[in-house]
Amino acid sequence: MATHRIGILTGGGDAPGLNAVIRAVIKYGVGKLHWQVVGIEDSFNGLLEVPHRLQDLTPQSCQGILHRGGTILGTTNRGNPFSYPDGEGGLVDRGPEVAKAIRDEGLEGLIIIGGDGTQAIGLQLMDEYGIPVVGVPKTIDNDLSATDLTFGFISAVETATDALDRLHTTAESHDRVMILEVMGRDAGWIALWAGVAGGADCIAIPEIAYDPERFCAKIRERRARGRHFTIIVVAEGAKPAEGDALPSKVAHGKGTLRTGGAAQTLAQLITERVNVETRTTVLGHLQRGGGPVAFDRVLATEFGVRAVELIQAGRWGEMVRWSEGKVSSVPIREAVSEYRRVEDDHPLISAGRAVGIEFGG
Ligand code: F6P
Repeated sequence: MATHRIGILTGGGDAPGLNAVIRAVIKYGVGKLHWQVVGIEDSFNGLLEVPHRLQDLTPQSCQGILHRGGTILGTTNRGNPFSYPDGEGGLVDRGPEVAKAIRDEGLEGLIIIGGDGTQAIGLQLMDEYGIPVVGVPKTIDNDLSATDLTFGFISAVETATDALDRLHTTAESHDRVMILEVMGRDAGWIALWAGVAGGADCIAIPEIAYDPERFCAKIRERRARGRHFTIIVVAEGAKPAEGDALPSKVAHGKGTLRTGGAAQTLAQLITERVNVETRTTVLGHLQRGGGPVAFDRVLATEFGVRAVELIQAGRWGEMVRWSEGKVSSVPIREAVSEYRRVEDDHPLISAGRAVGIEFGG
């Protein structure tokens, strides 16, 4: 049986389940198939430093990580080697260095675990330097094309749902409007799923530019029914249809801008219209931290095994995915072709409307 020597890395924002993928690749690829799998630290950065920062991964080194959050390899979402910060405010192309490092380390190819950005880097490495890659989709935002689900998403939804359950009790005790801001970049998957699961009265997602008056009407309508509290979940990328929003991109050091301010914007627009106490909660990185839920452990394990099977079959250039209720694969090119937003006619939006949730538009 052919023995392979491959590299594996995790890129972009971390997500619950990364370690479960690594564990599956190692248990099957090394443990069963006797391959050599080399962990590359901090996404592609591990290949840009000399000596390269690598770890020989064995079933022993992956013991006890199935349930652990984060990634044992480390990651970064500022490490695109093709436009790498030069430390003087400029960007340089360090692609050739990465390709040379991969060859110098005798790596036949890479398994890259990441979101659309990381998959696109892998594709460019393959196109420009002939480095074979297999992709594993990872993001809590679930905004990667060509896959119905990415691991980490359901864990983030569970965390947001738990937060909504908690906000219910304090909102009801104080007759307040509670606004929970969740992550998701420019897509509303986390807000939509957690909003329905957490019994939100209103959900604001980027895909539906909202009319704040409709949320206010919901607050008034609930009051008229003796329900003097309202629960609203807002995706970090959601915006009002009209008027100025508070900064949606706020500085977070190192000259980078972040999506933010959506909950504050909505609270302000509501208190301008309704005499009610509002409180905002930004869930932030709690959605990225902590161990994966059972579903994400299963999905991540299946993804890791399938990545090894793709390499066994010589099917480099593909990304594993979850589609029609099972694991399969798709060309990476297709997976990074477009950004995956919630479709206007998504069944969960109509189900949400049917149970009385207001989407603002
Ligand atoms: O893509 C994952 C994600 O958590 C987004 O939901 C969020 O907008 C962004 O990353 C936050 O990035 P950072 O960890 O760099 O603040």
